Amino acid sequence: MSQQKALLFLNKDAKKFTLGTRLIPKPGPGQVLIKNKAVAINPIDAYIEKMPGLLDQLGRGYPALAGVDGAGVIQKLGEGVSGWTVGDEIMYEAHDQPDFCTFQEYSLSFAARIAKIPKNLTFDEATTIPLCFAVAAIGLYDAHAEPGAMSGGMALTAPWEEGGRGKYAGQPILVTGGASSVGQFVIQLAKLSGFDPIITTASAHNVGYCKAAGATHVIDYKETPYDQLHAAISKITSEPFQYAFDSIAITKETQQACYDILAPGGTVGLVQNAVVGKPNDVADDGSGKRTAVVFAWIHAGPHVDFATRMYAVLTGMVERGEVKPNKVELLPGGLVGIMGGLGRFPVSGVKLVAHPPETP
Ligand SMILES: NC(=O)c1ccc[n+]([C@@H]2O[C@H](COP(=O)([O-])OP(=O)(O)OC[C@H]3O[C@@H](n4cnc5c(N)ncnc54)[C@H](OP(=O)(O)O)[C@@H]3O)[C@@H](O)[C@H]2O)c1
Repeated sequence: MSQQKALLFLNKDAKKFTLGTRLIPKPGPGQVLIKNKAVAINPIDAYIEKMPGLLDQLGRGYPALAGVDGAGVIQKLGEGVSGWTVGDEIMYEAHDQPDFCTFQEYSLSFAARIAKIPKNLTFDEATTIPLCFAVAAIGLYDAHAEPGAMSGGMALTAPWEEGGRGKYAGQPILVTGGASSVGQFVIQLAKLSGFDPIITTASAHNVGYCKAAGATHVIDYKETPYDQLHAAISKITSEPFQYAFDSIAITKETQQACYDILAPGGTVGLVQNAVVGKPNDVADDGSGKRTAVVFAWIHAGPHVDFATRMYAVLTGMVERGEVKPNKVELLPGGLVGIMGGLGRFPVSGVKLVAHPPETP
């Protein structure tokens, strides 16, 4: 068998993904071939259908594929791969080339940046972790961007590095969007880093979800709009905020709220292009505030080394319950289910997951 089922965005004028077939790729040096058991949908996958021209902007050719999160079983090892065996169950983040995307039955990945799924996690749970955990971890802990680079971190010390665990004890942090997938992981990591209080924003029905991740205070942003957030937070703590993380960042209000809460010299992490401060630099306004714009590119670019170290510790963190998966909603129908799931965005406090082997 050399053909597999895949979701294809056939050309520039296509409005939607369609189910098609393509060759099962062969792993190159340092790569593995994975049979996908569960894959998750992220907003970027939904944006492809919602924002015509996005694939061109991203420089993707056609037919294009999507899918960034995957969990499955290693089928083949490429040349030079060691430490992995056929049959290992792993989770992984895709690279942006078609053979690596996850909305297909078989994908490639890089052996240096995949993580074994521990026994306490299902494939469905595992596939909720890779992309959004990476953006949270890179955003908080990787180095500031080099001048002119598009992506950089806030340069905190990671909890898996010496002196990192609990290092920020007693310091407050604001994390907007605690019920989002990214927000969940930022909160979990902020807790390991010792931040307290960890203040987040979410809808009322997601308060428990945010608290289970480690938030100490959850503010309902529908009841307390972002222009009143500062006043609400001042009732919780009078400590200065050196750090804030905007896990949403798609509109100015969340970016502005995070930027405004910062004390002079503070740093904000953003998961979308900046509309506050100076991207990946210190603002010109004399405040000394730094804006870190992060993109979770882990297989090329500035974050490869950080991501390789992060993948080496991920399994242990999940096994110990320090990193918890998102809530899962399983879509029936395999890859066909994803086609319906893409139209469900934005979602609330859940990750949509599908099983490629169940594709009719
Ligand atoms: N830079 C990167 O590499 C990268 C990677 C992944 C994602 N992202 C971006 O990160 C953002 C989050 O992605 P995701 O996958 O975590 O999204 P998601 O899980 O699909 O986010 C859904 C959640 O967002 C929350 N939300 C929406 N607007 C909000 C607001 N104004 N304030 C507070 N919460 C709000 C909703 O909370 P309630 O239901 O509680 O209202 C909902 O639960 C998106 O902009 C995405 O494109 C960037």
